[in-house]
Amino acid sequence: MDAAPANLAIVAAECFGTSLRDDVLAGLAARPKTLPAKWFYDASGSELFEAICATPEYYVTRTELAILDRHLDAIAAALPPAAVLIEPGSGAGTKTRRLIEACRPSAYVAIDISRSMLEAGAAATARLFPALRVLAIHADYTRLEALPGEALPAGASRVLYFPGSTIGNFTPEDTRAFLERVARWIGPAGSVLIGVDTRKDPAVLEAAYDDRAGVTARFNLNLLARLNAELGASFDLSRFRHRARYDAQLGRVEMHLESLVDQQVDVAGVRHAFCRGETIHTENSYKYVPEAFRALAAEGGYDCRSTWTDEQQAFAIYHLVPAAGLAAAAGRAR
Ligand code: AVI
Repeated sequence: MDAAPANLAIVAAECFGTSLRDDVLAGLAARPKTLPAKWFYDASGSELFEAICATPEYYVTRTELAILDRHLDAIAAALPPAAVLIEPGSGAGTKTRRLIEACRPSAYVAIDISRSMLEAGAAATARLFPALRVLAIHADYTRLEALPGEALPAGASRVLYFPGSTIGNFTPEDTRAFLERVARWIGPAGSVLIGVDTRKDPAVLEAAYDDRAGVTARFNLNLLARLNAELGASFDLSRFRHRARYDAQLGRVEMHLESLVDQQVDVAGVRHAFCRGETIHTENSYKYVPEAFRALAAEGGYDCRSTWTDEQQAFAIYHLVPAAGLAAAAGRAR
């Protein structure tokens, strides 16, 4: 195994919220049954997600990368020089490396719930940019209240980078709350660079979440395999199928696992009955027209400085800055 690069520091924030067991038992007791999407990302789930990003139907990743490449100079010019770049849910960090090359931040902070993904991604970035300080924080970023300020360069502006439309996996209420909370991480002089998927033809959206090769189906079903492996559950994966449907009213793609038969499944010592056709709701992926996303960001306390998009407006990257009220509150909190 390679030694950790000298410019990389790893910190465990011990901030993980509820356990897999508690979340699963609560979700399966709810009606309709649900499982939180954050538990998709074990080692196999993270690999399957990378494979989804390469499917022809999942336009999200390649469209965002194309926007980033096309507008990289303008994006770099919009961000402060020598900033601290903070990436919650950093994962493999491919897009981030392009941004780092263009923006030359003084430090990069990667935060991820998966320790293996975090360490691999942060170490690769640290090796590629030996002059960059890299801080890897092992934590559930949805629970993290503050960044370890002592480990970050003092005085540098902070930029939160949140690509991939991960914000779409939050409800609009959680999006507002998340934006308010990250204002405390970035402070009054900070900003947010965020990638968000747009509303489009339902057929395109449903195909993106139900690709022909079945990669997304395997990703969804892997959640049940994880429960078998980690909680001793008795799911027979061949008795469930993947479902993806777009709810135009709510503007979100929903993923479900549908029971193909009446059956009973034991999970962590508790028996759960499933009727044929009953589903477990595993993920929401909200899509926003740009005006609606800017309005939501404004409700969270931000002004939108710039929007970069592609010709079809299939995806958008927004640069948000805390508006006066939020900036003052963020200044007091630091
Ligand atoms: C991580 N997140 C933004 C993906 C999405 O598009 O909602 C997760 C995903 N689920 C199925 N395909 C991709």
